[in-house]
Amino acid sequence: MKPTTEPRTARNERPQTYRVKNFGCQMNVYDGERMGELLDAQGITPAAEGEDADLVVLNTCHIREKAAEKIYSDIGRLTKGKTQKKAPMIAVAGCVAQAEGEEIMKRAPSVSMVVGPQAYHRLPDMLDKAVKGERATDTDMPAIAKFGALPARKRRSPTAFLTVQEGCDKFCTYCVVPYTRGAEISRPFNDLLGEARKLVEAGAREITLLGQNVNAWSGEDDKGRAVGLAGLIRALDPIDGLERIRYTTSHPNDMEDDLIAAHGEVESLMPYLHLPVQSGNDRVLKAMNRSHTAEGYLRLLERFREARPDIALSGDFIVGFPGESEAEFAETLALVDAVGYAHAYSFKYSPRPGTPAATMDNQIATEIMDDRLQRLQSAINRDQLAFNAGTVGRTCSVLVERKGKHPGQWLGKSPWLQSVWFMGDAAIGDMVEVELIEARPSSMEGLLRA
Ligand code: SAH
Ligand code: SF4
Ligand code: F3S
Repeated sequence: MKPTTEPRTARNERPQTYRVKNFGCQMNVYDGERMGELLDAQGITPAAEGEDADLVVLNTCHIREKAAEKIYSDIGRLTKGKTQKKAPMIAVAGCVAQAEGEEIMKRAPSVSMVVGPQAYHRLPDMLDKAVKGERATDTDMPAIAKFGALPARKRRSPTAFLTVQEGCDKFCTYCVVPYTRGAEISRPFNDLLGEARKLVEAGAREITLLGQNVNAWSGEDDKGRAVGLAGLIRALDPIDGLERIRYTTSHPNDMEDDLIAAHGEVESLMPYLHLPVQSGNDRVLKAMNRSHTAEGYLRLLERFREARPDIALSGDFIVGFPGESEAEFAETLALVDAVGYAHAYSFKYSPRPGTPAATMDNQIATEIMDDRLQRLQSAINRDQLAFNAGTVGRTCSVLVERKGKHPGQWLGKSPWLQSVWFMGDAAIGDMVEVELIEARPSSMEGLLRA
């Protein structure tokens, strides 16, 4: 801990209410929930929708420049009373906090606390200091310590996230995650089983296992045998009331045979795989330090399709990595054509401070990146609509997550992670049978069957 003693500009009273604003990936959503539970345990309550919060936690993302810069405009709006009537106490958490903690403290005097993703279990101590007017930064990385120091789960929702693995040792040359989240660690098997049971007791019917490289998870089961992610999934499968298991995000190099096999064998494991590839060209992949080839990636996907023919495939792409030529980009488009994704994310390369790619020669002009992104996204959208159209006529389970805009309308997810709208008698948390009747680019219309 490195407390400083500059005076705070915002109020110094102990906050009564809080709000956590999450940016970035699902891991931040999970961390945001756990920070909320920590604050609940301090007697601070979530601010009601539309009400001012006394404490605002900005849980930030550093992955691309736009995401990271957003934090300063958010702090400015909060301080000037544009977001709320009263300026709140501000804590900055997440990956920008980890990467730029000192700079935030200098640039934004209204920030009371800066806390990194591996240190947020110490938020209550920092809060005590902040109330006394002491600003505090904690960006230590004590690896597993955090989880043991957090209060028990009590989140009530039909779907839940569960972080099983954190950090990354892959060091792709464009990426900040190894620096903001630290080295790869796996949480212990028994802790995860315990947390999953608590989530199910609180109403979760679907759990998504999270990790920056979730398929690098490894541990020892209750009999002391070494197990990988598939072993963990097989151990979670029998939990009474847990009907769906998902996991994200995987890395091609950590893929084990048993995980592929599990897709054909474990009924609760949903037919969906998010496997980022980034580029379809081997020279670019090598310069990215991805250590897999386009061909190797395609072969992996083939094996998943053999194990589970209806599996929905998803991926991540970066266009305009330094030196990417038009011909190399064309190979990315060819890979998309070859896969037929159900869904995929694509981004313009964003140079990140401290990463090797940021200082590589041949940075690509924005106009070229814009053009490539647009072409890639239209190919992905085409395939997504085709995937959705291919499911029309199927009757499948839908887990109801929320009400729709219109009376009697409900929204849930199909096994293939499509958003499905339907009308009828249902409630949040129901698992209903729905016939998919119409495909839209990013959702499906369904007809309630049972
Ligand atoms: N661990 C996962 C996800 C990491 S971040 C993986 O290895 O795939 C999510 C996605 O953000 C990445 O897959 C990549 O497509 C994108 N990304 C990461 N760094 C980026 C950068 N500097 N510019 C643009 N996109 C980036
Ligand atoms: Fe970033 Fe690569 Fe690690 Fe994914 S595998 S988090 S893209 S360094
Ligand atoms: Fe962003 Fe950190 Fe997640 S940089 S994508 S919040 S791991």
